[in-house]
Amino acid sequence: MLPPARDHAGDARGASIPFRHAPLARIVVRPTGSSGSPVAWDAALAPVRREFPGLPIETGPVPESPRTLVLSVDEWMDQAFDPFDVDDATGVPEQRAPHAIAVVAWSGRSTPGEVATVALQAATRFQRFAGLSNAASATPLFREVLRRHRALHDLALPLVGADYAHALDTWSWLLRIDPGADLALQAAALFHDVERLDSERERRVEQHARDLARFKTAHARGSARVVSAVLSDLFAPGDLDRCVRLVEAHEDPSPDRDAQRLADADVLSFFSLNASGFVRYHGPAHTSRKVAHALARMRPETLPRLLTIRFRNDFELLLLAGLAGGQRAGRGVGTP
Ligand SMILES: [Fe+2]
Ligand SMILES: [Fe+2]
Repeated sequence: MLPPARDHAGDARGASIPFRHAPLARIVVRPTGSSGSPVAWDAALAPVRREFPGLPIETGPVPESPRTLVLSVDEWMDQAFDPFDVDDATGVPEQRAPHAIAVVAWSGRSTPGEVATVALQAATRFQRFAGLSNAASATPLFREVLRRHRALHDLALPLVGADYAHALDTWSWLLRIDPGADLALQAAALFHDVERLDSERERRVEQHARDLARFKTAHARGSARVVSAVLSDLFAPGDLDRCVRLVEAHEDPSPDRDAQRLADADVLSFFSLNASGFVRYHGPAHTSRKVAHALARMRPETLPRLLTIRFRNDFELLLLAGLAGGQRAGRGVGTP
């Protein structure tokens, strides 16, 4: 059971854990050995710049810093590549996030388009460190929201670390989907799963639920109780009420556009950040069910975003099967 909600709020307000934001400052593409004029490179990198307007995407030499994550196009595109391994190498906690990502065309065969694809997928993988924000979140008030959210998480626990990463990543996806997202919606993206900090801090239990719908409802209500307590003295009543309602209903189908955007961001984060770990932990059978459930929550217009994600190969096959299954069922992927 959750402890009384005021304990969460008290922890969050009293803790002195800093929120260290935006250590990822740029992405550098080194076009060694590749063909292509500067114009061709600019054209190839344009979609990356559109998706991450605040993140400099440069061409040039690899920055000489231990905090530069160097990714080769050949390795990234290799059949056996698993993005989870890159996380392991760089460290998930924000203290060890890369300051720069360098994408290097080692083989000399890569086209600008292929290199740009890797840059986009790598930026997506690490977007939680890129400091995405908008007018509603580039504020002292939202820094306090981030600080309280961070203070709820004991990053010494691996599953809590994964949940923290998912929260930041869901928020990042939301800002990509909806650059004008308001305060309540962004806070809902951050806090939507905080109930797991109680029920799944040391092991996952969702797969054992006899009634998944009931489990999800309890999970969402638990998260809503926490966010209500943690933000009650910070938000105006209208913002707080809407944020709490979005969190409380985040597992349910909804005609509300903000709720749909939150669901899309949540699902995309599962695909881009959690999928590798999920299939490793749960195996293919449970992962197939999870993929079908996730796809059913997505709006069709969000599906092209999947192209910005590098999946490990066994997961990609399960995803393709899920997409085909949705079409065979005649409901169209994305209809909740
Ligand atoms: Fe959830
Ligand atoms: Fe989630």
